[in-house]
Amino acid sequence: MNYQTLLTSLENNIFIITINRPEKLNALNRIVIEELSAAIGEVYNNNEIKSAIITGAGEKAFIAGADISEFLSFDSTSGEELARRGQQNVFDKIENSPKPIIAAVNGFALGGGCELALACHFIIASENAKFGQPEVNLGLIPGYGGTQRLTQLVGKNRAMQLIMTGEMFSATDAQQFGIVNKVVAQNELLNETKKILSVIHTKAPLAISKVIEVVNNFDHTQQGYDFEIKKFGECFSTEDVKEGVTAFLEKRKANFKGK
Ligand code: COA
Repeated sequence: MNYQTLLTSLENNIFIITINRPEKLNALNRIVIEELSAAIGEVYNNNEIKSAIITGAGEKAFIAGADISEFLSFDSTSGEELARRGQQNVFDKIENSPKPIIAAVNGFALGGGCELALACHFIIASENAKFGQPEVNLGLIPGYGGTQRLTQLVGKNRAMQLIMTGEMFSATDAQQFGIVNKVVAQNELLNETKKILSVIHTKAPLAISKVIEVVNNFDHTQQGYDFEIKKFGECFSTEDVKEGVTAFLEKRKANFKGK
């Protein structure tokens, strides 16, 4: 598919989605949100795609937030609609994707940009990346899931401080807070992310989907454990588990089919 605000490419079964509005620091306007929804749809539906990377064009920004220039005419109803549409069509769809979607954060990840990275399954960042939820500077609060996902990752007190001060924090701070998995030089960012995905591609795809489902449904009550038990059991109805176990016993590499 051709997009107005996104660049996409498929390399070794990795779909790379680049938000391409560098002159506006890749801010999320209505078209970007619509196109991201379609691009994530491709991840779900295209069998050639085994995983995806989301990144930003240029060296300065991943995504500097929702497009502030669209906000002036908003009222409560349209504000709520914007948040709901974005959450349902993009952020939740990324989080619940059956295939891994990794954020390669190459610069500013502010507001909706930070939230989009948080919706991905994990985050690799370049040394110059800067994170933040600066909505309070505009009289707003995060609306694309930031209050929920950031709190889950960093805990209540740190989330309160980060969201109330709106302060930016570095990639190394983000790593220390448990937001970022790895910090690398900017020119290594895509390669490092691809390397991790190439390891994941050797694993059983249906098991990977179930990992995403169960970890996303983390719930430190019996419900969480029960869900894991159910999904663990389901693995035994796949062809891949037979292949994986047989390959181990035959001392060879497994050849998974995703069935
Ligand atoms: N929405 C719309 N446009 C944005 C934007 C956003 N979130 N973030 C940056 N831009 C635009 C700027 O208006 C500017 O456009 P212009 O050249 O037509 O004036 C262009 O991108 C470059 O940004 P600029 O502010 O000149 O770059 P900078 O290096 O001085 O500052 C930031 C970078 C990220 C600190 C600054 O752009 C910023 O604070 N952006 C807003 C971040 C934010 O509040 N996000 C949450 C939104 S809810």
